Amino acid sequence: MLEQVTKVHDESRQGEAYAPVAEETQTYTKKFYIESYGCQMNFNDSEIVASILKEEGFGPTRNLEEASLVLLNTCSIREKAETTVRKRLTEFRKIKQRNPELLVGVLGCMAERLKAKLLEEEKLVDMVVGPDAYRTLPALIEEAETGQKAVNVQLSREETYGDIAPVRLDSNGVTAFVSIMRGCNNMCSFCVVPFTRGRERSRDVVSILNEATDMFNRGYREVTLLGQNVDSYYWVNPEDASVITTFANLLEQVALISPLLRVRFSTSHPKDITDDVLFTMAKYENICKYIHLPMQSGSTRILQLMNRTYTREWYMKKVDRIREILPDCALSTDVITGFCTETEEDHQDTMSLMAYGRYDLAYMFFYSERPGTLAARRYQDDVPEEVKKRRLAEVVELHRGQSLSSMQQDVGKTFKVLIEGTSKRSEDHLFGRTDHNKVVIFPKEDFRKGEYVWVKVEDCTAGTLLGTSTGRA
Ligand code: SAH
Ligand code: SF4
Ligand code: F3S
Repeated sequence: MLEQVTKVHDESRQGEAYAPVAEETQTYTKKFYIESYGCQMNFNDSEIVASILKEEGFGPTRNLEEASLVLLNTCSIREKAETTVRKRLTEFRKIKQRNPELLVGVLGCMAERLKAKLLEEEKLVDMVVGPDAYRTLPALIEEAETGQKAVNVQLSREETYGDIAPVRLDSNGVTAFVSIMRGCNNMCSFCVVPFTRGRERSRDVVSILNEATDMFNRGYREVTLLGQNVDSYYWVNPEDASVITTFANLLEQVALISPLLRVRFSTSHPKDITDDVLFTMAKYENICKYIHLPMQSGSTRILQLMNRTYTREWYMKKVDRIREILPDCALSTDVITGFCTETEEDHQDTMSLMAYGRYDLAYMFFYSERPGTLAARRYQDDVPEEVKKRRLAEVVELHRGQSLSSMQQDVGKTFKVLIEGTSKRSEDHLFGRTDHNKVVIFPKEDFRKGEYVWVKVEDCTAGTLLGTSTGRA
């Protein structure tokens, strides 16, 4: 994990190695090994890469020793994310010594940030490929096979990989991610993403609906629509410019695929989530009542320096509006402590805004200056590391209490749960998630993954609900 501290759902994979195998059992002549770091978009990109490589006869493997191509899909969001990748590359050195033919490629945000410099710094790297250049991977592999170093870090204003059907890696066959846009135009001053992912662009609505429908037909029962700022999704029909699809429209169309298909989305920028989106969520039972609404800070002055474009009060009103339209909506957030010039008073503002939000889940980080960002150029990273960490610990402590009480409040209630598989701890138990994305464990009986069941919650731990099913939903 990175600086992220709480127990989290899928995003807990942030920064953790992830060496997946594909859902298919087709045999391939060549094998590639891929590890993904960072956000869900990066994990989804690895599935696009797997699809591109499949066309070239490469199949995925979990065994490094049998791979002829090793790829790291990297993250630059915080310094620690990059350090983790560097360490991993050091470990690969030994394998490359044993097998000099092995090709090592760095993909993703770190590739984009460091470009050809990465080849000088990490001698064993053969290929550096940015997030918009994956279609050129076959040519780059060919180039690298001749002993040359291959680099493509060109960013694009159009690329969405809309026509590429991702090869699902390490899939549970029930839940999957669908990218609906790429890049980000939001220039939050602390953030490297606009530099590593380029300009924001939305993916063709038809390709999104086709992908989600196809997944439903193959037995998937939940899709999470992904983007750095999903609420600014905007698609203009190329044949008829009067036909526009907003995020609210898209959400509705995905929800209409089937009432049995759960729909989630991430991430919402507080400045962009509209009433239309909230009303659409209210209208469809299968759109999960869960919003990830990153606050970053509770101090208006710091928010301004962060270029978040909202104030503390504006954020509070957004939370109020969500609770008004969706009284039973779970909320999660992201927080950064110790941003440039943050005082004790600013920190207390963050603490009180955390308390106001009563978040079910929070991802909390201390500020890590990223080269090239607006903050790095304009402000001094002047809060000492121990202060950043102490403030982070306080925010985490506050949140721990909130999330535990959110779990405890569920005891005694009955929830509709989508079954995702067998519990890690017991063969006789299944696990699934509630609409609020909380993990529930319950006795197996004759239920199977992909089914919806009602589960009465009898107990909880800090991260899991425990219960018994009262029947199929
Ligand atoms: N697009 C999403 C966030 C993507 S990055 C959004 O706008 O909310 C995920 C989280 O990492 C951010 O919300 C922020 O809390 C954190 N983060 C980003 N840059 C950071 C930095 N330089 N230091 C510490 N945390 C950072
Ligand atoms: Fe980064 Fe801000 Fe864009 Fe999120 S919205 S990816 S924090 S610039
Ligand atoms: Fe990391 Fe890039 Fe995602 S910096 S968080 S992998 S967009």
